[in-house]
Amino acid sequence: MATLFVNACLRGDESRTLELCREYLKGISDVQEVNLAQLRPQPFYGDEVKRRADLEAQGQFDDPIFDLSKQFAAADDIVIGAPYWDLSFPAALKAYIEHVSVCDITFHYTEQSQCKGLCKASCLTYITTCGGSVAGANLGYEYLCGIARMFGIPKTRFVAAENLDVVGIDVKAQMDKACAAIAKLKA
Ligand SMILES: Cc1cc2nc3c(=O)[nH]c(=O)nc-3n(C[C@H](O)[C@H](O)[C@H](O)COP(=O)(O)O)c2cc1C
Repeated sequence: MATLFVNACLRGDESRTLELCREYLKGISDVQEVNLAQLRPQPFYGDEVKRRADLEAQGQFDDPIFDLSKQFAAADDIVIGAPYWDLSFPAALKAYIEHVSVCDITFHYTEQSQCKGLCKASCLTYITTCGGSVAGANLGYEYLCGIARMFGIPKTRFVAAENLDVVGIDVKAQMDKACAAIAKLKA
């Protein structure tokens, strides 16, 4: 599998973030999409954590609970699109990461007790749009940089269209600027 597109643009076709993601994905042929608005991933509570840990301990990695993690680990390239919500991103994306973050699939511990990533992807690209400015509080991206380090993905990069909800702003000009940044990333 080549590119995994994690679509956390929960407003669907209304989403400006999704518009940017589509611009980024244009021309990329092998794309697998995980649509979080449809998937509606649930956060883990104690009972599910225990069930998953028991399956891990028994090496039963064929259980469907591990499917999202295996898909993420196998991708050559990761693109995550999410709007800027409350200084980060929608909770559905955090819930998705909880499903993906599985010891012995996306990361493991070495004999020296060091956490080492097991993901194949060489790059994680994060695309967002914000009502105001993301500068100085790009917390969703910073978190995903940490996750990429933990999962062994060596490169992370970021594109944003900012100030889209500012009254009187030229939204198209802001989106065009972000599209130009995307074109540069793809060049
Ligand atoms: C629940 C929610 C939380 C938001 N939080 C912020 C925020 O903290 N900072 C900000 O600049 N914009 C915030 N916004 C505005 C969105 O980031 C902005 O409208 C964005 O372009 C929406 O992306 P979309 O068109 O892809 O849905 C928020 C919007 C929603 C619905």
